[in-house]
Order: sequence, then structure tokens, then C-alpha cells
Amino acid sequence: MTPSASRPLRIALLGFSGSIGRQCLALIADYPQHFQLVALGAGNRGGASLAASLPIIEQYQVRYVAMAVQSDPSEVSSTAEVAFGSQAVADLAALSEVDVVVNAIVGAAGLPASYTALRANKTLALANKESLVVGGQLLMPLARPDQILPIDSEHSAIFQCLLGENIASVQELWLTASGGPFRGWSQKRLQTATPAQALRHPNWRMGPKISVDSATLMNKGLEVIEAHHLFGLPYSALRVILHPESRVHSLVSFVDGSVKAQLGPTSMRQPILFALSFPKRLPESACERLDISQLSDLHFQLPDLTNYGCFQLAQAAALKGGTYPAVLNAANEVAVEAFLAHRIGFLDIEKVVEQCLEQHQPQQVVSIDQLLAVDAEARAQALAAALTLG
Ligand SMILES: NC(=O)c1ccc[n+]([C@@H]2O[C@H](COP(=O)([O-])OP(=O)(O)OC[C@H]3O[C@@H](n4cnc5c(N)ncnc54)[C@H](OP(=O)(O)O)[C@@H]3O)[C@@H](O)[C@H]2O)c1
Repeated sequence: MTPSASRPLRIALLGFSGSIGRQCLALIADYPQHFQLVALGAGNRGGASLAASLPIIEQYQVRYVAMAVQSDPSEVSSTAEVAFGSQAVADLAALSEVDVVVNAIVGAAGLPASYTALRANKTLALANKESLVVGGQLLMPLARPDQILPIDSEHSAIFQCLLGENIASVQELWLTASGGPFRGWSQKRLQTATPAQALRHPNWRMGPKISVDSATLMNKGLEVIEAHHLFGLPYSALRVILHPESRVHSLVSFVDGSVKAQLGPTSMRQPILFALSFPKRLPESACERLDISQLSDLHFQLPDLTNYGCFQLAQAAALKGGTYPAVLNAANEVAVEAFLAHRIGFLDIEKVVEQCLEQHQPQQVVSIDQLLAVDAEARAQALAAALTLG
């Protein structure tokens, strides 16, 4: 869906209160002639998002709001239609007044919205990688070409490198990884890693869950699964390369020996803007620009991934397929929350995930309801595993 000359692109922004959501709001405000915010969704888990939505509703003249969790009704806007419950959030993705759904919800909670958006034939600007990790086998057959526009910077980079190319000419996709805040740490030192240290990513400012996933390298494991579904390539063609500077956002190598890379500043503004303006590019002045004359010191190295238990577990779950990735994701979400709450240690995250994967009786993926049931069961098992470790 392209911004037309006659009217701006109408956007439903799900996860507006998060890191990606706030950057998306800023972009929409910066391009009023191109983008119009129609609907807002969030979790409202701490009760803060409903109150935070009020000035946004007024500023952007938002018409629809949905919060997964209900809180003080005195904070409800009188100008927007407000609804509560997870289904209400997903329903925003099917509104007839919406052209593009930006899914910036964190975790498997974003899956129903992605599914609803595709079924309603909306363009899906996707930050919520967990949708594809858990439900890629259901979502991809619903999507027409370019209906899912990735916001994850690595996938946006690969998507940009593949424009005009035939997927059959691709040899390998190379996802870059900064290595996170604990790059080079020994297993002994990792035992003492604290939430505050895990949240201090060297290059990116992100929400808490993805920051911890970057520290364990689970994030890279999830991204490999996301890339497998999004670009339809086997896992044998997906590679991870350490690139500490986070300037090259990913690369594609082709059968003729050519390699394309996409570079940019370390900011999510560019991939969000690209997803919203695709297939055009809009001029951007608010974001830092990459100074090409300063790029003399870029490093690339094949990582030793044997030390990263979470990445190994993600790879194993990916290769086994079926409902294993849903269990991997659910257990990881619970374990990360427990780590952030100081209930388990950093290295316990992989232990919780491993236990849940070992207990799982795999199934073929057949429906969203089945995936949500598998997700719920894995969460209960992960909570029990975290309790015994804590
Ligand atoms: N941050 C980045 O730079 C970045 C980069 C690449 C990809 N991503 C991906 O983008 C997604 C969002 O990441 P983030 O860093 O922006 O996360 P975040 O800062 O933690 O924000 C998460 C958002 O999801 C909402 N949410 C949580 N549970 C929900 C539910 N049940 N229903 C509806 N909304 C819910 C939250 O609302 P409440 O706060 O009201 O609960 C919040 O708005 C993740 O999948 C992440 O992997 C992020």
C-alpha cells in the first residue's frame, strides 16, 4: 500500500507505548501529509498506556483505541472509541479505515494481530518477529508478495537487498549480530550478569525483552527463524556474522559471487520509514546520516556460537519445526521476565527453555488456537521451571 497523492496512508499502530511504537509515532508526526494514525493498541499491563494514549488521541485525532488489559475507566477518551481485551487489540488490524498495520507488540501476544491483518488483506509492517517464529507456517501462506514488510533492521536490510532480484539467485542470507553487551564474556562471568547489565546494549536502545534476547543471542536465533519464513529459504542458507559496529544491517550473497549489503545509521527510524513508504523512499532529515567517509573500521567475524546456549536451542527448535518454535518462544518470554525480576540468573534462561523443549510433545501446526494453547502450556511449564531454579 503506497501513500497516495490524494490521501495519507491510514495506520493502526499496535504496541504504540513501546520502543518501536514511540519511534513510529514520531515518524507519523513528522510526515503528516503521508501518514495518518487511525488506531492505537497496547497491552496496558502496568495500567500506564491508557493514560498515555490520551494526549496521543488528541494530537493525532485517533479514532480507535484498544488495550489488552482494562484499567481505570475515568482515563478513557471521549473522542475515540475505546475497547478492552486481547481480541479488541487484534480487531484493530481489520478496521476498514486502516491501510497498514504496524505490529510493534512484544512477544507471542502479537500473533493474533498479524493473523488478523493478513486475513483482512492489510499491509503488515512487522516488528513483532515472534509472530513469524510462532506462527510462520500459518501466516506466510496467507500473505501475498510484499504484504509483510519487515521492520526488524536485519530483515529490512535483506528485503532491500532482494528488491529486483530472483530468490533462486540467492546463495546465502547473512544476518549481522553485534554480539550484545556480553560479547567476549566467559561462562563464569555470565553467571553474575545482572538485568541492568543485560539491558545496556552497546549500539541499540530497545525494549527490555529484546535487549535481554540480544544478550543471550536468543534474538539472533529468533531472527533466523523469522528470515526462514519471510524469505522462504532453508536454514542451511541462513548465516550469522558478528559485526560489532551495527552499520551493515545484513547482507545477501548471490550465486554469481556478488554480495549486496544494506548500511545505515544505528536507528530503527529508517526501517520503520521504509516499511511505511514502500515501494517509495521518503526524504529523511531527522535521523543521523551515515558518514561514509568514517566507515574505515568495520569488522566481520564468524561467531563461535557454541557458548550461546539460547542460540543453540533456537536452532534446534527451528530444525525440528512444528510447534517447537512456539514452545521455545513462550519459555523464553517467561524466563526473560523472571530474569528481569531477579528471580533467576542470566544462565538460567537457557535452562528454563531447554527444560520446556525437552518436555514438549511436538505437533504439526494447524491453527492459531492450537498455537495459543501450546504457548499457554509452555508458559505454565516455564513458570514451574523458573520457580525451581529461583
Ligand atoms: N526496539 C527495537 O529497536 C526493536 C528492533 C527490532 C525488532 N523489535 C521487535 O519489535 C517488537 C516490540 O519491541 P519493543 O522493543 O518496542 O518492545 P517494548 O518497548 O517492550 O514495547 C512492547 C509494546 O507491546 C505492547 N504489548 C505488550 N503486550 C501486549 C498485549 N498483550 N497486547 C497488546 N500490546 C501489548 C506494550 O504495551 P504496554 O506497555 O501497554 O504493555 C508495548 O506497547 C518486538 O517483537 C521486538 O522483537 C524491536
